[in-house]
Amino acid sequence: MNFELTVLPLDTIDAEIEVIIVVDNNLKHNFVQDKKLLKKAGFSAGQDETCLLLGEGRLYVGAASLQSAAIRTAAASAIKALKGSNYKSIKVATYTNEGCTYTLRAMVEGFILGAYTFETYKSKKNECKIDHISLSLEEYSGLKIDIEKASLLIHKAQITADATNFTRDIVNTTPDDCYPAVMASIAEGMAEDTGLSCKILKPKELKKENMETLLAVARASRHTPRVIHLTHIPKKPKCVVTLVGKGLTYDSGGLSLKPADFMVTMKSDKSGGSTVLGIMKAVAELDLPIEVHGFVGAVENMIGGDAYKPDDVLVAKNGKTIEIRNTDAEGRLVLADTLCYAQQEVKSDYLFDFATLTGASVVAVGHYTSTIMGNNKEVQDLVVKEAHNAGELATALDFNPYLKKTIKSEIADVCNISNTRYGGAITAGQFLSEFIDKKHADKWAHIDIAGPAFVEHAWGENPFGASGAGVRMMVKLIENLAKEDTHKY
Ligand code: BES
Ligand code: ZN
Ligand code: ZN
Repeated sequence: MNFELTVLPLDTIDAEIEVIIVVDNNLKHNFVQDKKLLKKAGFSAGQDETCLLLGEGRLYVGAASLQSAAIRTAAASAIKALKGSNYKSIKVATYTNEGCTYTLRAMVEGFILGAYTFETYKSKKNECKIDHISLSLEEYSGLKIDIEKASLLIHKAQITADATNFTRDIVNTTPDDCYPAVMASIAEGMAEDTGLSCKILKPKELKKENMETLLAVARASRHTPRVIHLTHIPKKPKCVVTLVGKGLTYDSGGLSLKPADFMVTMKSDKSGGSTVLGIMKAVAELDLPIEVHGFVGAVENMIGGDAYKPDDVLVAKNGKTIEIRNTDAEGRLVLADTLCYAQQEVKSDYLFDFATLTGASVVAVGHYTSTIMGNNKEVQDLVVKEAHNAGELATALDFNPYLKKTIKSEIADVCNISNTRYGGAITAGQFLSEFIDKKHADKWAHIDIAGPAFVEHAWGENPFGASGAGVRMMVKLIENLAKEDTHKY
């Protein structure tokens, strides 16, 4: 999708359709030319409501306000309304919130995210045909806009949204087409394209690194595991950020097999790792002045004669012993070793992990929201704030010492499940905290994206299936770290 920024007024731009965002759900604005027709059509400018006036060549879409989130989903709805059509070009004015051009970024993101389709497995493709969007600097309420600032924001929006779509593609790919070795080659290909460096650890190296816990989860699969390490090192890095992702290319549950209904969609258990790949792509393309490391533990959790078992005791890379009572709590085992490896390789100012870790996170806050955990409230709050700035939903879940006791084991250092059926997102986070070194204890946040990463219906700017949750929130967070003078929370 090609964006052209122009100072030309809208009516002099040649395009097949003009998109008009009706802000504040208010049809009375001067720039709404077709008031009568819209009234007749029953258009009330509700958020994301669309009305295509074919004769006039205008598509109207409602937005509740000039807030970025409202503009982003409105733009996505507009492009979705044109998906079945053969239109190739659209034009749109600029909408800013009292001169704040972030709404422009949100609008461009909305167009790219809304146009996304995943049609790899369809014999008849129905891709969005719009490939040219003219953005006029004619501002809807007559404000003046700096063209350089505007074009920089469009560039950033394109990179961020394309990276989100890149993550969506990986997650949506079937487990037979995307297994650990494939994830590793996707990372290598992306690194080559963007100038990142990329190291892949295969089973031999994983053994050498004492990653026995990760290897145990992988054991029953015909697909051998990989650990991916991507690196972005700019000239004068302002600080160091480490990202770690759960990359379960399939989670059958292992011997603690998932019931049939719960196994469907578990190709999405690689979302955390795929999100890390998407963030790394954006960080490289934006060339952010932050050193960023991305680690992915890519593993398939299957059943078989050599599968790891409930009752096993595994030894993690940091020497801690883990009593296995449920092989479906495998993500935390893969993350335990990958987190230990990441911390051995890099000392960082911030450490974030992304995982579709628990159904309990979805039970707690619903499908659309990520839950943020950790030892440090400020780091948790920072993630929540940047998620909201980027148009994602996130909320903090606090640790407490009573829940921590529920993952105690009688026979090992820690148990891989809790002895209570409640608070499962938190106890999973507390399990991970056992594998965070002292030096990183206050620099770490765990981001459970089990809710929003894969949803079987479209919502906001997100399609059916993978959403790319975590990409926009973390790109924004890292971008803002680059702006600050001091980087300690
Ligand atoms: N991958 C799942 C968590 C999940 C569930 C992600 C639903 C997305 C949607 C994870 O590996 C898992 O199975 N967790 C178990 C933990 C339990 C055995 C303690 C769960 O959430 O039920
Ligand atoms: Zn599982
Ligand atoms: Zn899992």
